[in-house]
Amino acid sequence: MIVFGGTGDLSMRKLLPALYHSDRDGRLAPGSRVIALSRGGLTDAGFRGKVEAEVRPGLHADDAEGWERFLGRLRHVSLDVGGPRRDGWTALTHLLAGREDTARIFYLASPPATFGPFCRGVHDAGLVTPRSRVVLEKPLGRDLAGARRINDEVGAIFGEHQIFRIDHYLGKETVQNLLVLRFANAFLEPIWNSLWIDHVQITVAESVGTPGRRGYYDQAGALRDMVQNHLLQLLCLVAMEPPSRNDRESIRDEKLKVLQALRPITGTEADRFTVRGQYVAGEAGPGYLDEPDQTAPTTASHRVETFTAVRAEVKNWRWAGVPFYLRTGKRMPYRRSEIVVQFKDVPHSIFPGGGPNRLVLRLQPGEGIHLHIMAKEPGAGEVVPRPVPLSLSFADTFRTRVPEAYERLLMDVLAGNPTLFMRRDEVEAAWSWIDPIAATWEAAGTAPDPYPAGTSGPAAAHEMLGRSGRAWHEEDLP
Ligand SMILES: NC(=O)c1ccc[n+]([C@@H]2O[C@H](COP(=O)([O-])OP(=O)(O)OC[C@H]3O[C@@H](n4cnc5c(N)ncnc54)[C@H](OP(=O)(O)O)[C@@H]3O)[C@@H](O)[C@H]2O)c1
Repeated sequence: MIVFGGTGDLSMRKLLPALYHSDRDGRLAPGSRVIALSRGGLTDAGFRGKVEAEVRPGLHADDAEGWERFLGRLRHVSLDVGGPRRDGWTALTHLLAGREDTARIFYLASPPATFGPFCRGVHDAGLVTPRSRVVLEKPLGRDLAGARRINDEVGAIFGEHQIFRIDHYLGKETVQNLLVLRFANAFLEPIWNSLWIDHVQITVAESVGTPGRRGYYDQAGALRDMVQNHLLQLLCLVAMEPPSRNDRESIRDEKLKVLQALRPITGTEADRFTVRGQYVAGEAGPGYLDEPDQTAPTTASHRVETFTAVRAEVKNWRWAGVPFYLRTGKRMPYRRSEIVVQFKDVPHSIFPGGGPNRLVLRLQPGEGIHLHIMAKEPGAGEVVPRPVPLSLSFADTFRTRVPEAYERLLMDVLAGNPTLFMRRDEVEAAWSWIDPIAATWEAAGTAPDPYPAGTSGPAAAHEMLGRSGRAWHEEDLP
């Protein structure tokens, strides 16, 4: 595996720990190596020292022998992708010589602007073999045109079957379990439609802010950074039709149909169906504009959304009329990712109180599935129904370590299985839906609604659901 940007934040926090855990579990072949590329001028020993200092303390557990074996797999090559010097490419070519038949993974953990030049670089150095694959990190562009440009540049060197566009949410256990829950159990399918489901909520809430990341975040914002990829991918898995097979194309074909069925939100509709917010100083910390950063806030900083809520609709027979509420934000009161499927209430209640059933798929923290059913509160006297969760915690039930999403996905790349990766047409269909919303916001030229750091978004996000008598699911779970 050749990690381009191998000294960066993503490599240190996600990729290298995932590779170490996979190695410890015996899932890396004996001769496997990880070659990190950066401009940092490190030797192999210098890079290993950096990994020892930055990666090892954060591991779940490590054993001395396994750690030494893992360190022995690491190399570093200094290479500036846009620079005139060829010595980095020459060093990489030497390292890979004689291994043309081995699977070669080029992992692009570097700024998106370097994706195209890097692919051309490996091609010009003659390093692309039939068993080569390339992994692309998000964000793939900041609009449809940008995504197409990157896809064209990478596609000029690698075939679509060699390109793995990663969305790490798809590697989470709960997300995999959503497919099993829907397609390996018979009881849900008859009620998985607009006759029985009132609405769906997908929340990805972060309690952290964006200190030191203004340069990136000003250009991204919550809509592009989170909704275009993670939230829309989750929506697809909830809404897709049962695929005929669990293979690389069938699932992606069904997800694409969902994206193509999303009702466009254009022009003034954005006022009714979307909300944008930006955190200001509150109990949880400073406002977005006051976060410590190397650069001062610009006009883009004032306009960028750190929170968004969108009411989406999937226009097909199964889902017509069922709102899919998506929301994501920084500096919210909790860190929580979940899908809530809210069923319709009983047609006629013979008990006082009560309420509709809810299926909660929790991605983090504590991955698990909770089905809220009505049960009788114990005791004599009047029968009082109370919602009680039937809970399946993966960690408790299977008594095994729940692997990080990156572990699963990296092993899929090594195995050449792209099922859980986004195909080009999916990425572009998602941008086609996002672009008109972003364009309307930009044309308005106004600032997002403020919300105090540590609260769950601006009032408008609650009003969006409140207008139809609904409310965001805020309840904590065991
Ligand atoms: N961090 C995350 O949690 C996260 C999550 C999702 C997606 N991503 C995506 O993953 C990618 C990496 O993010 P990051 O946060 O790890 O960034 P980062 O900390 O800034 O690291 C970037 C890496 O790329 C190298 N690099 C940059 N320009 C280069 C060049 N011209 N030639 C050679 N190496 C170069 C850097 O090393 P030198 O500067 O020493 O060359 C460094 O190793 C980005 O596309 C980002 O959008 C990151």
